[in-house]
Amino acid sequence: MNQNKFENCDQYIEDLFANEGDDLKNIINVIEENGLPQQSVSASQGKFLQTMAAACHAKHILEIGTFLGYSTVWLARAVTPGGKVITLESENSFAELAKKNLQSCNVAELVELRTGCAVDLLNNMLSEDLPPFDLVFIDADKPAYCDYFNLCLKLCRKGSIIIADNVIRAGKVLDQNSKDEKVKGVQAFNKMLSECDLVTSTILQTVGKKEHDGISVSVVK
Ligand code: DHB
Ligand code: MG
Repeated sequence: MNQNKFENCDQYIEDLFANEGDDLKNIINVIEENGLPQQSVSASQGKFLQTMAAACHAKHILEIGTFLGYSTVWLARAVTPGGKVITLESENSFAELAKKNLQSCNVAELVELRTGCAVDLLNNMLSEDLPPFDLVFIDADKPAYCDYFNLCLKLCRKGSIIIADNVIRAGKVLDQNSKDEKVKGVQAFNKMLSECDLVTSTILQTVGKKEHDGISVSVVK
């Protein structure tokens, strides 16, 4: 197996299940035009998020790390009637571009974008009278994954699904001596997940159009 074959199979999955359409493709172009890294989820991963949303009848979705809104659009299109996505972004310039992208994808009314440090925003949310989130997608700065997860747990219910992106990092998680803060962040997160009695979890390795990586899936007990 090689990267080319993984990409072709990802395209095959996309063609069958995850047609992204021109409006989502446009977000990828906006990322390119702004010289930003192509670190959004792939279309097939977007469809995976939607499938998980369907599994927990997601009405209230929380996303940590909006970036330019690509995954936010997939999530917004999966909420049940009357539902919405709250998405958190610390970088103002990303949030501004994301707002435009959400509008051009016609999901702006389904999304509440909050800007600021996610730990602060999550702490604020604990004292708001919010309904519990059915689905959480963590895809922000890796060193803070443990903090995000622990705060998110308090905002969830039994049966909520918590998903985190980039937890394998092309196998760099195997290096116990890694000095890479992102790797160390997800290593600590994966260990914590494996020991957390409040959730049932596993990690799916992902290959395809993106670098070899992994997505953790946890269901709150
Ligand atoms: C990085 C972050 C991501 O969310 C991703 O999907 C890929 C890479 C990064 O910070 O390196
Ligand atoms: Mg990611």
